[in-house]
Amino acid sequence: MAEIVVVTSGKGGVGKTTTSAAIGTALALKGFKTVIVDFDVGLRNLDLVMGCERRVVYDLINVHNGESKLTQTLIKDKRVENLFILPASQTRDKDALSKEGVGKILDSLKKDFDYIVCDSPAGIERGAFLAMYYADQAIIVTNPEVSSVRDSDRILGVLSSKSKRAEDGKEPIKEHLLLTRYAPERVKRGDMLSVGDVQEILSIPLLGVIPESKSVLRASNLGTPVSLDRESDAGQAYLDAVSRFLGEEVPMRFVEEEKFSFLKNIFRKRGAMA
Ligand SMILES: Nc1ncnc2c1ncn2[C@@H]1O[C@H](COP(=O)(O)OP(=O)(O)O)[C@@H](O)[C@H]1O
Ligand SMILES: [Mg+2]
Repeated sequence: MAEIVVVTSGKGGVGKTTTSAAIGTALALKGFKTVIVDFDVGLRNLDLVMGCERRVVYDLINVHNGESKLTQTLIKDKRVENLFILPASQTRDKDALSKEGVGKILDSLKKDFDYIVCDSPAGIERGAFLAMYYADQAIIVTNPEVSSVRDSDRILGVLSSKSKRAEDGKEPIKEHLLLTRYAPERVKRGDMLSVGDVQEILSIPLLGVIPESKSVLRASNLGTPVSLDRESDAGQAYLDAVSRFLGEEVPMRFVEEEKFSFLKNIFRKRGAMA
């Protein structure tokens, strides 16, 4: 049975599209037939990050409106077996999507795929709501900053009250915290929250920590999901996260300075001044 996984955050620009591309690709590399569905019309759209923007003919809204078939619309990745992209419309209004229409599309995809990864737009408006409504699992992408953590906390509330699972009284959406753009030296300086701080505030299981890395922008400029760059720290961190997602026990990496918590650091500074 297919699993619908939404990649969401509340806030924009935290790394949802990067994460959707990297995690979808890694799931396909693990042998699962995976489709990444773009619910967003962002600046760095999923098709750009995946390097298939020139192959987009039809999109999610075309399928929704019956103007194209799923088989005509899905783009098969040329590098990774079992990987497909369902692109977003570049032009039309996101309000063109209805709850029932999205439900039908996801039901059809469920027949054919193991994982359906939904790249959510920012905010908690309609587009983001539709991306998460049918989810079985959610990856909450959070940056180690107060504003991002606060928005993630709000999204957790929406997931637990407004999703289909919540409406149907089913087991709640399984939540995973993915901390991205993590820079241990900035945590040490007290400029960023630590892994421990974020976990304490959100209190959901930690799927992984993705370091702030130049390899992400490089990969995105090349149109390659960063999880295909096995040499890069961010690529390795995403591959680790997917192994954990699939139930493997993998130690956390790239969190070296974790013991310097944000709060502890303030106290340390005070101590130094005294
Ligand atoms: N781990 C990271 N290290 C460095 N830059 C990152 C990282 N993750 C994302 N970015 C950059 O942050 C920006 C926003 O990422 P994106 O995935 O488009 O976020 P969202 O989909 O949440 O708006 C992009 O320029 C992307 O390259
Ligand atoms: Mg995005």
